[in-house]
Amino acid sequence: MAEEVKKRAFSGVQPTGKVTLGNYLGAIRNWTPLQEQYDCLFCVVDLHSLTVAQVPAELRKNTLELVALYIACGIDPEKSALFIQSHVHEHTELAWILDTIAYVGELNRMTQFKDKSRKHADNINMGLMNYPVLMASDILLYQAQYVPVGKDQVQHVELTRDLAERFNARYSDTFVVPECLLSKSGSSIKSLQEPTAKMSKSDPNENGYISLSDDIDTIRRKLRRAVTDSDTDAHCVRHSADKPGVSNLLNIYSLCSGTSIAEAERLFEGKGYGVFKDAVADAVISVLQPIQAEQKRLLGDKAYLEAVLKRGADKASCIAQKTLAKVYRKVGLIPQIR
Ligand code: TRP
Repeated sequence: MAEEVKKRAFSGVQPTGKVTLGNYLGAIRNWTPLQEQYDCLFCVVDLHSLTVAQVPAELRKNTLELVALYIACGIDPEKSALFIQSHVHEHTELAWILDTIAYVGELNRMTQFKDKSRKHADNINMGLMNYPVLMASDILLYQAQYVPVGKDQVQHVELTRDLAERFNARYSDTFVVPECLLSKSGSSIKSLQEPTAKMSKSDPNENGYISLSDDIDTIRRKLRRAVTDSDTDAHCVRHSADKPGVSNLLNIYSLCSGTSIAEAERLFEGKGYGVFKDAVADAVISVLQPIQAEQKRLLGDKAYLEAVLKRGADKASCIAQKTLAKVYRKVGLIPQIR
């Protein structure tokens, strides 16, 4: 019964290869506690990934790896629905209906569309422009109240709210109007090479980010090479606005070790950057190693992963079908007699 009153949360991640330490600390890790509070659906949004060129075999591999990673990071398939977007066909069907109320002008203004158009100038396809409508469909299909995302997705959730309100106004109350759930901690992990920019998996400089699949040596090497600050206070491990490099490393250290920033500053007082960076590496490794081991174990158990995905898609479909049927009826489509 308690199940019935829980509010719903929905989030998705694209299976585009690398997941960074920033994604983990800023997003995925914060989803684990949400499972107690909300009825959660976590989706691997494979259809979204097709908006930029993919190698089919790699997309398949990345999709399964991401599913295993979600579980290794603490998403519990007994509590949450974990599923693949393309397994629930209602996502694209609702996207079409939402397309008919979305304006070209508002999609054209989306920051991510503009960025990606610049980055993939040879492939500005309709899907890239339509991306936020498919995302709105993901969320609205499940009548989700909350959408845990990073700051970069806030604009898309706002568009989702606009579309929900527009549909509700035109066809009567149908969709829950969702809200972003921004995580307080860790949402601002920066690049190791350019500590004023976000840590991003699409950074052409691989030393800028730590990928959750990096091995121990790579993690150590990347952290040793991390940019620190050459101010008058050189070699002083202190969190401050004029020391973006060191502050970022302190954030990472604090989140990975559970030590407060102040405590960490005390711990590394007078120790110099070399010692500090090695300690950051140890803290990161202690978090990532068990996740990597569990992900590997899960990938060796295909039968289990398939069962999880089937259960997740079954649960998701059940909700999605209801919403889509309601939407089809409201816009004037005649239900098929079965
Ligand atoms: N656009 C999101 C991103 O790139 C991924 C995504 C797709 C998503 N559909 C979603 C996130 C629905 C939250 C809810 O990160």
